[in-house]
Amino acid sequence: MNVLTFDSQEKFNEAGANIITSLVQTNPHAVLGLATGGTPVGIYEQIVKDYKRGLVSFRGITSFNLDEYVGLPSNHSESYRTYMQEHLFDHVDLQPEQTHIPNGNAPDPEAECRSYDELIERVGPIDLQLLGIGHNGHIGFNEPAHALLRGTHIVELAEETRKANARFFDQPAQVPRQAITMGVGTILQAKMIVLAVRGADKAEIVHRALIGPITTECPASLLQTHPHLVVLLDEAAGKQV
Ligand code: GLP
Repeated sequence: MNVLTFDSQEKFNEAGANIITSLVQTNPHAVLGLATGGTPVGIYEQIVKDYKRGLVSFRGITSFNLDEYVGLPSNHSESYRTYMQEHLFDHVDLQPEQTHIPNGNAPDPEAECRSYDELIERVGPIDLQLLGIGHNGHIGFNEPAHALLRGTHIVELAEETRKANARFFDQPAQVPRQAITMGVGTILQAKMIVLAVRGADKAEIVHRALIGPITTECPASLLQTHPHLVVLLDEAAGKQV
């Protein structure tokens, strides 16, 4: 595990963007695993800057997002499809057919999960998976549990997760109760994982994830078993490691 701590937001974002753009420069057909949340916003902004400077092209890549809320129309302002279009996809040379996000409105959600896994199986493995972490240690939307699932599945969101994500919605009650998430098996199969975490409120969970026992009660702790994990932290998130 390679843990890098940055003393400015700018350096943190540049480091995250550099890892992704360097991969795409050396492998123009890379398969990227992408994440949402507040943390990657600045990383995507930096990637868009690199693209506009002509440093990188996404013409040949394929992307798979980790997760999506169940029941929000895909054009809802808080759907992860909208997030990805606004922060990255609309600003670089990526066609819609290159980007994949689970469909949270699929008429048959189980079939949607199976076909998402089949597609990753066919096009993958994922070369680089970008990840954030929830305050309870969730990755994607894999919430703490006695057992975790390998493949894409429907999850009930933890109340803590709904509260943390309420900041993006007009009313807390509007936060969906379910999501579709890639499973931890698929996440761990990525050739390289980049875990990006910011903020003092995440210092304790970063400690548990990176140094604590490996347990499904802290899904991010499973990342300790990955042979190629890079952790990007700001100083506040890195206080306890
Ligand atoms: C959501 C996403 C996660 C993300 C987490 C942390 O719950 N499903 O994939 O890691 O938020 O996000 P933030 O970066 O906003 O703290």
